[in-house]
Parts: sequence; structure tokens; C-alpha cells
Amino acid sequence: PDVLPGDGGRSPGSGELVLLRRIGVVDPLSLDDYRATGGYTGLRRAFELGPTGVIREVLESGLVGRGGAAFPTGRKWEATARQLDRPHYLVCNADESEPGTFKDRVLMEGDPFALIEAMTIAGYANGCTLGYLYIRGEYPRALKRLENAITVARSRGLLGDDILGQGFSFDIEIRRGAGAYICGEETAIFNSIEGFRGEPRTKPPFPVEKGLFGKPTVVNNVETLVNVPHILEMGAAAYAAVGTSSSTGTKLFCVSGTVERPGIYEVPFGASLRDLLDLAGGATGELRAVLLGGAAGAFVRADELDIPLTFEGTRAAGATLGSGVVLVLNDTVELPGVLLRIAEFFRDESCGQCVPCRVGTVRQEEALHRLSKRRSEGDLLLLREVGQAMRDASICGLGQTAWNAVESAIDRLGVFTAKESS
Ligand code: NAI
Ligand code: SF4
Repeated sequence: PDVLPGDGGRSPGSGELVLLRRIGVVDPLSLDDYRATGGYTGLRRAFELGPTGVIREVLESGLVGRGGAAFPTGRKWEATARQLDRPHYLVCNADESEPGTFKDRVLMEGDPFALIEAMTIAGYANGCTLGYLYIRGEYPRALKRLENAITVARSRGLLGDDILGQGFSFDIEIRRGAGAYICGEETAIFNSIEGFRGEPRTKPPFPVEKGLFGKPTVVNNVETLVNVPHILEMGAAAYAAVGTSSSTGTKLFCVSGTVERPGIYEVPFGASLRDLLDLAGGATGELRAVLLGGAAGAFVRADELDIPLTFEGTRAAGATLGSGVVLVLNDTVELPGVLLRIAEFFRDESCGQCVPCRVGTVRQEEALHRLSKRRSEGDLLLLREVGQAMRDASICGLGQTAWNAVESAIDRLGVFTAKESS
């Protein structure tokens, strides 16, 4: 079924909706519905501002990447746009695969024209003539709705040659992933599109200089892009006035687990974890912990709910916002089992290209299996050594973060230590 915010129980009073405002309200197949609710105002504004003006607005808005890494979008665009090497490519990373993340799916299924408009604006600002939308293969409904949006936009002069008579030509091609988590890593996407094995490349060089087909490429997550038409519509200053100075605007959170009303929630950055859980009706049973940021994230304790949901706030608290995963766990959940599942996931999804991750994810899972049967100082030490080696020496984010959740469960929740009884 559709996972729409209404199903997730978005409560009144959760603040003004920006990204979700059309979800469940407009017909996702109708361009007329999209336009009647402000659609394509952003692109018109972009043509008034010109490419450098658009980048200036994005810089001043303070928008940072919503895929998980929070890199400033304007800086990425500025760096791509100034490259003399041509052509420039745009890649929308819609290979949403972080366990517990489903926000991009909701955006693509419920407001597909917004992503097409946003990609067109990004293409215009960055001097791209072609954009690739790399979508997770397990999202068939989103795929169909995006295919429809692209076809309709083309037929109405909003994609293709001479868009809106402005002398700008841009088109979008869709590529489907085939089930590999690693293909969401931006350089693995390039390899996948180019027809090679989906393995990450070493960075630098960053994609802004040498990306898809070796050309300057801007890669942005779905939610990041969908913010852009809103920024142009409301103006950078108004956008930046929401949230905090380092985390501006609103954020989509994917609330799941043992919680009354799981679903997608949009709140301004700076709301606390407690505020968000209240919106979702609170935990069912007694709250034990929350996994923030997904499998690559960190657990926080039930007494840490005042953590502000900002990139800087979670970082200061030794956690991470990542892609907005909020997995709620009550005291009936067996944490060692959750850790084993996470370790199994990383072992399974490691592409095997580099030794620390290929071997480390296997050793991590083995040690967790032993620990789940019998407490052992030796295995705890081994986990730490293996985890540190993966963090320090892996090529990409998968290996670098594969020990995060396990480490936080041991250090913050006391799992497998004398303090822990479960
Ligand atoms: P990263 O920090 O290496 O890069 C972030 C972005 O900034 C990339 O686009 C990179 O090219 C760009 N960048 C970094 N330094 C740059 C520079 N000096 N000049 C130009 N561009 C630069 O992080 P990465 O590995 O791309 O992403 C890791 C994040 O992905 C994690 O935080 C994790 O939460 C998230 N993630 C999200 C998933 C999802 O389904 N949404 C799945 C898996 C991971
Ligand atoms: Fe592949 Fe893991 Fe190395 Fe990334 S860290 S390149 S997933 S083996």
C-alpha cells in the first residue's frame, strides 16, 4: 500500500508542511494538479535568476544534502558549474536503501513532478543537458509515476528541447538498480550506469570534477533536490529562517519500530527527538532505545530524547541524523538480535572490493554470534579492533560505518557488558 503521511499519523500542529504538502492531496499523475498547487513556479523563477543566481540562492538557503552526509548543496553545485570540461551530468540518487529509510519513496510516489521540476532546475544551474534518475529497483510504483511525469513533462514542453522557450534543453533518463545496497554509493552508481560492476571508486577525485563517464557530475539525493523549487519559490532568506543556522529548513523523518503511529514526519530542524516521538504517538510499551540514522547510525538511550534533531546537534551527542531513520525499540526487543541483523546486512552488502570491509564485516558478524551466546572480553576487544580497521581503512562509507551501530550499542546501551542483563 501507499505509505503516505496520513497513514503515518502526521498530527496537526507539527509545523507547516513544505515537502509533504502535496502528498495525499494531489493526483500524482496530473501535471495540472501539480501546477495548480504551485508546481513549476520554481523553474520559472530559476529562468529569471539565471544559473549563477540559482546557485547563489541555494548557497544562501544553507541547504545541505539529505542523503545522509549533509554536504552543502550550493558548494557542490558551484564546484560542478565552474568545470570547463563538458558535458556535465546530473545524477539523482533515488537508490534509497538505508534500512529504515522510506522518505524518498513517499516523495516519488506522491509528488513525482516535484522531483522532475527539481532535476530540471539543477540541470539548468549546473550546465547539464542530461540527468539520470537512478532509482531503487524495489520501487515499482515510484518508477511508474516518475515515468509518467517525465512523459507528460516532455509532451508539455517542460523537458526536452528549448524548455518553456528559454533556450535551455534538458532531458531525464531513468536507470533501475538491481537490489544492491552499495549501488546507492554515488560512484558505484556511476559504474552501474556505465555498465560495470557496482563498486565504489576512490575519492578524490570527487564527482564534481570527474564523475559519470569521467565528466563533472552533480549527484543529489531525492529529498535534497525536492527542496530546491521551494527555496526558489519562497526565497533563500525565508527558507533559511526555518530550522537552525547550520541545519536549515525542514527534514523528513522515517519513524518505525515499536511506535504508535509509524510513518513519515516533516518537522523543522531543531525539534527534539522527544517532539518527534510525541508526534508519532510515542513508543508502544517501555522505550528502551532509538536507532538514529539507520544501520550506519547510532543508538541513543531513552534518557537522551532531548537531543535536537539537527546535523550538528546529533553529531555533538555522538550520534548522527543520517538519512532521517528513527527506529524505536521498546524493552521487548532483544538488542543482540538487532545487532546481529545489522552485521548480517553489512556482510551481505559489502561489495568485497577492499579487505577491511570484506573481511571485517564477516569477523564482526562471527564475534556477535559468539557474544550473543556467551560474554567474552576477547570478542569485545576483537570487535573494537575490527571496527576501527574498517572505519580507518575502508574505501567507502559502507565499511567506514559498518561498526557504528554495534559500537554505540556496546558503549551507550551496555549491550554485552556487565551492566547489561539482556
Ligand atoms: P561523503 O561525505 O563522502 O560525501 C557527501 C557528498 O559530498 C558526496 O556527494 C561527495 O561527492 C561530496 N563531497 C564531499 N567532499 C567534497 C569536496 N571536497 N568537494 C566536492 N564534493 C565533495 O559521504 P557519502 O559516502 O557520499 O555518503 C555517506 C552517507 O550516506 C552516510 O551519512 C549515510 O547516512 C548515507 N547513506 C544513505 C543511504 C540512503 O538510503 N539514503 C544509504 C547508505 C548511506
Ligand atoms: Fe566495497 Fe566495503 Fe570496500 Fe565499500 S568499503 S568498496 S562496500 S568492500
